[in-house]
Amino acid sequence: MYEVKCIGILTSGGDAPGMNAAIRAITRTAIYHGIAVKAIYRGYRGLITNEITDFKTQSVSNIIQQGGTILKTARCMEFKTPEGRKQAHDNMVAAGIDALVVLGGDGTFTGARIFGQEYSIPIVGVPCTIDNDLFGTDYTIGYDTALNTIIQCVDKIRDTANSHERLFFIEVMGRDAGFLALNSALASGAEAAIIPEIVTAVDQLEELIENGFRKSKNSSIVIVAESDITGGALGVAERLKKEHPEYDARVSILGHVQRGGSPTAADRILASRLGSAAIDALLDEQRSIMVGIVNDEIVYVPFNKAIKDEKELNRSVLDILRILSI
Ligand code: F6P
Repeated sequence: MYEVKCIGILTSGGDAPGMNAAIRAITRTAIYHGIAVKAIYRGYRGLITNEITDFKTQSVSNIIQQGGTILKTARCMEFKTPEGRKQAHDNMVAAGIDALVVLGGDGTFTGARIFGQEYSIPIVGVPCTIDNDLFGTDYTIGYDTALNTIIQCVDKIRDTANSHERLFFIEVMGRDAGFLALNSALASGAEAAIIPEIVTAVDQLEELIENGFRKSKNSSIVIVAESDITGGALGVAERLKKEHPEYDARVSILGHVQRGGSPTAADRILASRLGSAAIDALLDEQRSIMVGIVNDEIVYVPFNKAIKDEKELNRSVLDILRILSI
C-alpha cells in the first residue's frame, strides 16, 4: 500500500507527435487528484543531471496542438549503469518525487523496468512512438500523425512520378517494424510495401517484378520500410539496378519529417486518454506497467510484455494491397 504525493514526468527516446498532449493530460489529471507534478527535462539524463522543475496547470497550456516534446528528449547511456541510476534515484528522492510517468517506446520502458525494480518505485509508461511497435496496445501515440504525414508526401511524389512515368521507392521509418510502411502503402494507393517482417519468407522485389509491376501503369510507388536487411529504399533500388537494369527507378527517403508536426485529432484523443489513464493506474496502485488501448478500452500491460512480446502485423492488409494494385 502506498500513496503517491508527487510524480515526475519525462519523455525519452525518439519523440512522437502527441507527446505534449499526453504531458498535458498527465499533469492536469494528477493535479485534479491532488498529486504534485515535477517535470524532468531530457529524459533519464535530466534525472541524473537534476533538471527538475515544478509543473502547474498553466505549465501545460497551449501545448495540445504542438509536435515534439516540451520536456525535450534524449537517449541516455549513463542510465544503463548502476551508478547512473543511483544518481537518478538520489535526485528523485531529493526532489520529493515518489512515482514516475515515462513517455516513450521500448528503450524507455526497458530503463523504467530496471529502475523501478532496483529502487521499488512505482512507474507507469505511456506508449509514444511513430513506429506503433509496442505489444499490448492497438495504437501508440504519434503513429496516426506520422501515417498522415507520409501519405501527404506520397501524394506529392505521385504527381511527379506520374508526369515522368517513373517508378519510385519511398522509404519510411519504423526501425524493425512495418506498420507505417504497410498502412501508408494502403492509404496512399501504392503498388506494394516492402516490410522487414516478411523479408526472409519472400523475395518481395522478385515478386513485384514477376507480377509485372508498372506494365499497365503510368507510374509506380513502392513503400519501403527502413531496414538493415533490405538496406531500405536505397538497397532495394540498388538491387533493381543490378538485376533489372531495364527499370529506371528513383528513391525518396522521407526521414525525420515523419516525426514532426501538429498531432492529428486521433493522436490528441489517444494521448489525452492514455495520459489520464496513467494517473488512474498509479491511483490504482499499479507499477511497472504501460497503459494501452485495445478495442477502445484502456488496458494495463506489464513492461516485460510490452517490450518483449512481438506485436503482429495484420498480414491480410498485404493481400488487400496486392488486390487493389492490379
Ligand atoms: O523509433 C522511432 C524512430 O523514428 C524509428 O522509426 C527510427 O528508426 C528511429 O527512431 C530514428 O532515430 P534517430 O532519432 O536516432 O534518428
